[in-house]
Formats: sequence, C-alpha cells, structure tokens
Amino acid sequence: MRTIRTERLRLEPATAENADLLWRVLQEPDLREYQDLPDVDVAQFRRMVAARPSELQSGISGRFEWLLYLEGVHAPVGWASLRVAERASSAGEIGYSVLREYRGRGIATEAVLAVVEEAFAKLALRRLRAYCVPENLASRRVLEAAGFRADGVLPHGATVRGRPVDVVGYVRERGVDSSGQTIEMPASG
Ligand SMILES: CC(C)(COP(=O)(O)OP(=O)(O)OC[C@H]1O[C@@H](n2cnc3c(N)ncnc32)[C@H](O)[C@@H]1OP(=O)(O)O)[C@@H](O)C(=O)NCCC(=O)NCCS
Repeated sequence: MRTIRTERLRLEPATAENADLLWRVLQEPDLREYQDLPDVDVAQFRRMVAARPSELQSGISGRFEWLLYLEGVHAPVGWASLRVAERASSAGEIGYSVLREYRGRGIATEAVLAVVEEAFAKLALRRLRAYCVPENLASRRVLEAAGFRADGVLPHGATVRGRPVDVVGYVRERGVDSSGQTIEMPASG
C-alpha cells in the first residue's frame, strides 16, 4: 500500500509499526456511537494489522486501513478503511472516522474521495459500498458529497454496541464521478 496525498491530508497505510497509533484513535469513545470497532488490546490489534495483506492489488481480499494526517498536525486525526470480503468480490466496503475536534472541516469527505480513487485505480472492483445508521447524518452527508447514493435499508445490517441495527446502504459505481457523471476509467492496475 502506498501513502496517499490529497490537498490537505496524508493517508498513511496502517502497518504493524504504526498500529499502536491507530489503536489509540479507535479507543475514542464517541467513535463507537454509530459503529462497532474492534474491542481488543493493543498487542492483539498489532497482530491483526500485521496479518493483513500489505499490497492493494487486483484479486486481493482483506482489510486495508489508513491513518489520516492533516497538514500541520503531528498526531493522526482519524482513519479510513477499505474491505474486500472475498478474492472474487466485485465490491469493496469503505469506512472512516475523524476525531471530534477535527470534524466539520471536510476531512472525512476528502479522505473518502481519496480512498475511492485509490480503490478503483488499484482493484478491479465494480462498486464501492458503505453502510451507516440512518441517524448518522454527518456520515450520510460525507457519502453523498463523495458521490455515493443511498440504495436501501439493510435490516440488522450491522451491530452497534453489541446490538443489531438497521443501516442505510450507499453505493458508488465504478466509472461514475462524485457528481454522478459517467467517466472514462482504466480497467485497474
Ligand atoms: C462521520 C464523520 C466521519 C464525519 O467527519 P467530518 O470530517 O466531520 O466530515 P466532513 O466535514 O467531510 O463532512 C461532514 C458533513 O456533515 C454535516 N454534518 C455534521 N453534523 C451534522 C448533523 N448533525 N446533521 C446534518 N449534517 C451534519 C457537515 O455540515 C458536513 O456537510 P457539509 O460539508 O455539506 O457542510 C465524523 O463525524 C465521525 O468520525 N463520526 C463518528 C464515527 C462515525 O460515525 N464514522 C462513520 C461510521 S459510518
């Protein structure tokens, strides 16, 4: 995986070396309000991250994560993820969170757009999906701004704090830009 740079952000791949930093971000209690995050200690988490595939390349499956660094801020301000469930899967799923004090500045939107671009460039995926609970209006806004469209409610589609919850599914198809226009795209690389 490579470091992705955007106008204001640096997306650093999560590795065994920086997994502790990501683990610390994941401990922020309000990140768990709308999503289930791994409840493991730092050593277990480091092992989980170390066992993930290190290259984002066609035909690969697994979970890929990036720490989000904002220019001028030393510590990570959030994370973004991409999950491809099976090798032959035509869809990937994205996730993201931003620490409270950095919210409302377009950071999640900028990070999601970067992960979308990277995923379609590196993997032969037909579509990307994301799920969020209906009341997570900020997250829904991020997805809409990043060119995803809602495609229905998945009953009990996720667990939050150990309880099954309904989620709104969002999708962004390959070859469609963030404003919904069809665009020319290379197959994948
Ligand atoms: C969802 C989250 C990642 C958004 O991060 P962010 O960096 O603040 O997102 P952005 O600034 O790119 O965009 C947020 C948008 O939501 C809007 N928004 C924020 N709170 C809102 C609310 N309560 N109601 C409606 N819109 C809201 C903002 O105005 C902004 O829209 P705009 O750009 O059109 O003004 C962040 O709130 C978070 O980490 N939440 C906790 C974890 C989480 O829910 N992760 C996603 C799980 S699906």
